[in-house]
Amino acid sequence: MAKRSTISVFFLLNVIVFMLPSILIAQRCDRQVYSNIWHRCTECNINVLQGCPIGYQQVTSGEGVQRCTIFLNFGPNLGRISVPGCQHLCRRTLILKECCSGFWGQDCQACPGSPSCSGRGSCSDKVTGNGTCTCQDGFKGFACELCKDANKFGSYCNETCHCVHGQCDSGLRGTGHCRPDSCHLGHQGQDCNIALPNCTSPLPCPVNAGCFKINNTDSCVCDPGYRNISNTCNAINHCIDGNHGCHSNADCFYLGPGKHNCTCASGYTGDGTVCVAIDPCQRNNGDCPSNSTVCNFLQPGESNCSCLPGFQNYTSGAGCVMIDLCENGGGCDVHANCTMIGPGVKRCDCKNGYRGNGTICYGNILQRVKELNLQGPNGLKGQLNTAIDLLTGSFVHQALAGAGPFTLFLMVDDAFANLTQEQVK
Ligand SMILES: *[C@@H]1O[C@H](CO)[C@@H](O)[C@H](O)[C@H]1NC(C)=O
Ligand SMILES: *[C@@H]1O[C@H](CO)[C@@H](O)[C@H](O)[C@H]1NC(C)=O
Ligand SMILES: *[C@@H]1O[C@H](CO)[C@@H](O)[C@H](O)[C@H]1NC(C)=O
Ligand SMILES: *[C@@H]1O[C@H](CO)[C@@H](O)[C@H](O)[C@H]1NC(C)=O
Ligand SMILES: *[C@@H]1O[C@H](CO)[C@@H](O)[C@H](O)[C@H]1NC(C)=O
Ligand SMILES: *[C@@H]1O[C@H](CO)[C@@H](O)[C@H](O)[C@H]1NC(C)=O
Ligand SMILES: *[C@@H]1O[C@H](CO)[C@@H](O)[C@H](O)[C@H]1NC(C)=O
Ligand SMILES: *[C@@H]1O[C@H](CO)[C@@H](O)[C@H](O)[C@H]1NC(C)=O
Ligand SMILES: *[C@@H]1O[C@H](CO)[C@@H](O)[C@H](O)[C@H]1NC(C)=O
Ligand SMILES: *[C@@H]1O[C@H](CO)[C@@H](O)[C@H](O)[C@H]1NC(C)=O
Ligand SMILES: *[C@@H]1O[C@H](CO)[C@@H](O)[C@H](O)[C@H]1NC(C)=O
Ligand SMILES: *[C@@H]1O[C@H](CO)[C@@H](O)[C@H](O)[C@H]1NC(C)=O
Repeated sequence: MAKRSTISVFFLLNVIVFMLPSILIAQRCDRQVYSNIWHRCTECNINVLQGCPIGYQQVTSGEGVQRCTIFLNFGPNLGRISVPGCQHLCRRTLILKECCSGFWGQDCQACPGSPSCSGRGSCSDKVTGNGTCTCQDGFKGFACELCKDANKFGSYCNETCHCVHGQCDSGLRGTGHCRPDSCHLGHQGQDCNIALPNCTSPLPCPVNAGCFKINNTDSCVCDPGYRNISNTCNAINHCIDGNHGCHSNADCFYLGPGKHNCTCASGYTGDGTVCVAIDPCQRNNGDCPSNSTVCNFLQPGESNCSCLPGFQNYTSGAGCVMIDLCENGGGCDVHANCTMIGPGVKRCDCKNGYRGNGTICYGNILQRVKELNLQGPNGLKGQLNTAIDLLTGSFVHQALAGAGPFTLFLMVDDAFANLTQEQVK
């Protein structure tokens, strides 16, 4: 009876751009998959009542399509006949989660660098990726934003630094000149290429200063890492003066006069020049049991778990429990069994001997007559006792126990009132 066949599956591309709470820019390129099935074969007139399984959209209407055969039993010894049956075409739409290229993991987080891997590497992207950049030859760094050769700069890392006796402002966005205040002892200029001669007769200079000839005049010059402020040489702290080159989400550590490093702030990962938010959901679903919960990114480095639709009562570690929709009969007919077939999805099946869609089940015509006698409308309720006695006592009883369709004309008890017992027979 439960004849099911997948007749077609096709795809659509669906691009969704969304922002998770703060920072995380995500982009999904989901695929929509349609799958069509023919629902179970039922007598055509009953199939009007039978929709599609939950989660499916009904494509055909009314009786559906007459395309199958159903066998009706007429009770023991009476054999069976075959009648044409009807089926509904039912469609399910599934969304298959996928990230657009340049985005990775469960949350489709953006790959480091803008463009992805600074356009100088390939990102391990898509839902199954890990978001790491594999840099082209000549490039390095978390987002391939640095030149492998510290003496190169420019968007192709193929230009040689102009900086001579100092620290080159290297990298894809570098200038090729020396970094501010990076000249070695006795050198000056934006490329630290002007060598200062020693003094002829050294002056008494302040601490952290040496004597050099500038414009042929003996002068005191601050040591590397120190800056002349009102004739005293003060240690330079780039973490304070802003010339640190750290990413906006990096912490700057002062490591001594003119020296510092950049370390991604807590909740972020990267090399300090590029830092991206850590989304704990990207690894092992943030330790949320994936069969009953979903992981939510809250802020960099922080996530929590919540129940998937159809589940409730989250407990840490154990996950959530499926909501039992069959409690108290689950809205099925009293002559139906209720079964949970998945989260948020129940099924009502008419019990043996009954037919219908589960929400409504009809028994055979004798059961229906008994039902009407018990709870039928005025005029029938309590008025069918004689008719029932007659039917159960007669030879038609077995035939009427079958599925039908049958039409019965019955007399109510009042109509029998003036008849003698002989006349009734
Ligand atoms: C079953 O049939 C009844 C009566 O037509 C209808 O109201 C109900 O929605 C149907 N249920 C399903 C699950 O198709
Ligand atoms: C990330 O994925 C790439 C490519 O699949 C792989 O080579 C690399 O080892 C992975 N890195 C980590 C940290 O897992
Ligand atoms: C660097 O490479 C780019 C692209 O290949 C090229 O156009 C440019 O001339 C190169 N520059 C140098 C200095 O080699
Ligand atoms: C300057 O003096 C230092 C130390 O006194 C010496 O090592 C260096 O060679 C001198 N440089 C020049 C250009 O004379
Ligand atoms: C050295 O002399 C040049 C030209 O006379 C002048 O422009 C420059 O400012 C002088 N440098 C210093 C440090 O006095
Ligand atoms: C500091 O700058 C002043 C003014 O330019 C100059 O006179 C002095 O020699 C400098 N001192 C040091 C230690 O560089
Ligand atoms: C930067 O310096 C701090 C303090 O010494 C240290 O803890 C950190 O590991 C350093 N970071 C890098 C990237 O070297
Ligand atoms: C999810 O999987 C875990 C471990 O396999 C299991 O203990 C738990 O019962 C499952 N929960 C549900 C709702 O299926
Ligand atoms: C997860 O965080 C959200 C947003 O702050 C909150 O509404 C929810 O209650 C949290 N869930 C759990 C299980 O802590
Ligand atoms: C949720 O779990 C708690 C503790 O296990 C239990 O006492 C409570 O009855 C559960 N609630 C539901 C709605 O399942
Ligand atoms: C309904 O449930 C009863 C008792 O669990 C079982 O005997 C019967 O086979 C079920 N009927 C159907 C149609 O699932
Ligand atoms: C039965 O007989 C009574 C009295 O003769 C009469 O009033 C009534 O209408 C009759 N009922 C029927 C159904 O013939």
